[in-house]
Amino acid sequence: MAAPRARLPLLLLLVPLLDAGRAAAWGKEGHIMVCKIAEKYLSASAAAAVQELLPEAAGGELSTMCPWADQMRFRYHWASPLHYANTPNVCNFKFSRDCHNSRGQQGMCVVGAINNYTDQLYSYGDPKSSYNLTESLMFLAHFVGDVHQPLHVAFEKDEGGNTIMVHWYRRKANLHHVWDVSIIDTVMKNFYNRSLDTMVDALKGNLTNGWSDDVSHWENCENKRATCANDYAIESIHLSCNYAYKDVEQNVTLGDDYYFSRYPVVEKRLAQAGIRLALILNRIFDKDKADVIPLHVQ
Ligand SMILES: *[C@@H]1O[C@H](CO)[C@@H](O)[C@H](O)[C@H]1NC(C)=O
Ligand SMILES: *[C@@H]1O[C@H](CO)[C@@H](O)[C@H](O)[C@H]1NC(C)=O
Ligand SMILES: *[C@@H]1O[C@H](CO)[C@@H](O)[C@H](O)[C@H]1NC(C)=O
Ligand SMILES: *[C@@H]1O[C@H](CO)[C@@H](O)[C@H](O)[C@H]1NC(C)=O
Ligand SMILES: *[C@@H]1O[C@H](CO)[C@@H](O)[C@H](O)[C@H]1NC(C)=O
Repeated sequence: MAAPRARLPLLLLLVPLLDAGRAAAWGKEGHIMVCKIAEKYLSASAAAAVQELLPEAAGGELSTMCPWADQMRFRYHWASPLHYANTPNVCNFKFSRDCHNSRGQQGMCVVGAINNYTDQLYSYGDPKSSYNLTESLMFLAHFVGDVHQPLHVAFEKDEGGNTIMVHWYRRKANLHHVWDVSIIDTVMKNFYNRSLDTMVDALKGNLTNGWSDDVSHWENCENKRATCANDYAIESIHLSCNYAYKDVEQNVTLGDDYYFSRYPVVEKRLAQAGIRLALILNRIFDKDKADVIPLHVQ
């Protein structure tokens, strides 16, 4: 956090106000990329419903609204715990144990939120629906991104890496920020000419080439009662332990060794999040799939 401090003193002053415990999710770029990938895989009816729900300011593009939930964290303070889940410093996730806010309210974590907003969106088209489905959509799109950022399902003691200070090459950062922002920035700079769209195109290309055999596995969701967000959280805590936290301690410098072994994980998680967001939205809005049992909040 020290590097931006020099250049952006005002913004930094605001950060503690915006969020007491945790920094934001995937940075803006990560969320936009997830949603740009999802948009490509929406069915015609899901795309039409999304268009109808998006606010005017979105200009017809879901991706422009995917960072929205982070911008709302000050105003919607109650929603702050919905961006992540903490485990009691163990490498597994259990909904009943880990999905609650600091006041112990069950379901108030990223997994509960994905199920909640999915459930609300099932009332689309019902004139009696009392939800603001524009918000439901914008929350859902954001939280499906978040649950795929490994350190959003991570240890309580270090607040998902927020209290682990490291150097990202020569810059000071915390580990959480490295996974939200720094790895993505470095990838964009090294491989994609600093262009978000070039990176999205490359990830889309990977989905039809390198990862094509994996995609059906990513889409596999047996859970008819709720979304498979619980499974995505379990994947994330495993990735946190096996990649994000691995070989990291306070004040360590993370350079090429860390970067080259971790960036493929980040790229894959962005792509998985995009595919799975599309899957959830298609299940909700595709009338052909009306026989799918509606989801219920866990
Ligand atoms: C579900 O959504 C409602 C409306 O936004 C909100 O008040 C509630 O806290 C949400 N619960 C979870 C678990 O996301
Ligand atoms: C629904 O939420 C959006 C985004 O917060 C807001 O702009 C809009 O006014 C809300 N709609 C209603 C009917 O409250
Ligand atoms: C990289 O981006 C710059 C402008 O941002 C452009 O002039 C240049 O042609 C791009 N290079 C490649 C290889 O796309
Ligand atoms: C993704 O595509 C890029 C080229 O755009 C390629 O260099 C990279 O190896 C691919 N990754 C995978 C996992 O297929
Ligand atoms: C990390 O570095 C800071 C100063 O930069 C120092 O105060 C602190 O003791 C160090 N922590 C560890 C665990 O080395």
